[in-house]
Amino acid sequence: MATTVALVTGANKGIGLETARQLGARGVTVLAGARDEARGLQAERALRDAGAEARFVRLDVTDPKSAQEAADWVDHQYGRLDILVNNAGIGPKTRAGGPPSQTDLDAMREVYETNVFGVIIVTNAMLPLLRRAPAARIVNVSSEVGSITSMTDPASPLAQMPASLAYPSSKSALNMITALYAKELRDTPVTVNAANPGYTATDLNHHNGFRSVAEGAEASVHLATLDADGPSGILWGYLWTAGPSDAYGPLSW
Ligand SMILES: NC(=O)c1ccc[n+]([C@@H]2O[C@H](COP(=O)([O-])OP(=O)(O)OC[C@H]3O[C@@H](n4cnc5c(N)ncnc54)[C@H](OP(=O)(O)O)[C@@H]3O)[C@@H](O)[C@H]2O)c1
Repeated sequence: MATTVALVTGANKGIGLETARQLGARGVTVLAGARDEARGLQAERALRDAGAEARFVRLDVTDPKSAQEAADWVDHQYGRLDILVNNAGIGPKTRAGGPPSQTDLDAMREVYETNVFGVIIVTNAMLPLLRRAPAARIVNVSSEVGSITSMTDPASPLAQMPASLAYPSSKSALNMITALYAKELRDTPVTVNAANPGYTATDLNHHNGFRSVAEGAEASVHLATLDADGPSGILWGYLWTAGPSDAYGPLSW
């Protein structure tokens, strides 16, 4: 039986590195996508030291040429791809914060290039390889701040956050993109789902998150290792709620 092959984008640190580590611990061959060679090779070494079968793949998700080169390499090495975790993302930069009325469009475009267009670029480059796998899984790493349901529920702690457009709306777009890929692929064995890591301590939020990366990677790993008859077109993971304990499981978009 051939090994399961997974590509995780933005795998050189944070939730992506931990997702790669957890998949590697399950015997999956992990291809650690990183845009910077030195950071990628460092991640490859850390994953191998943790016992994973891991290989660095250079991949800048905003660059179609880079995505195609990565796909060609995966094709040459393995001939197929079983799991794609679209994890790479950038947070609200200072310029892309602020209220909607003061949106800096250039900063907003930068967030969309990675969080929205990057996912489409990588998914479309990898789809021919994913279609060759017996039951491929695509996981798009979203965020609870992308949930229109939560952000507009006055009882949700998320509704109390200051309004800013770039990052939350990029993840709302990603949620719809997930649902529409699932729709296109519904008659195939490929599942397409979105993961909510929850507020996780990483560089993205200057380590202010209250979850560990182990928890943050949980939803991605769950969706990446679904049974062949598992669901497609769902949002799954952690949600900060007003209740005594946070939700974990299937979530409203
Ligand atoms: N942390 C949270 O609380 C939280 C909550 C919800 C969702 N998320 C999502 O979780 C995912 C991972 O975030 P994180 O918290 O682990 O952040 P992080 O520690 O900042 O890691 C982000 C990763 O994405 C990579 N990346 C950024 N732009 C890229 C590009 N153009 N091409 C390739 N890789 C690129 C970064 O690489 P470099 O090192 O080269 O910059 C890094 O490896 C993101 O999609 C984020 O939106 C995070």
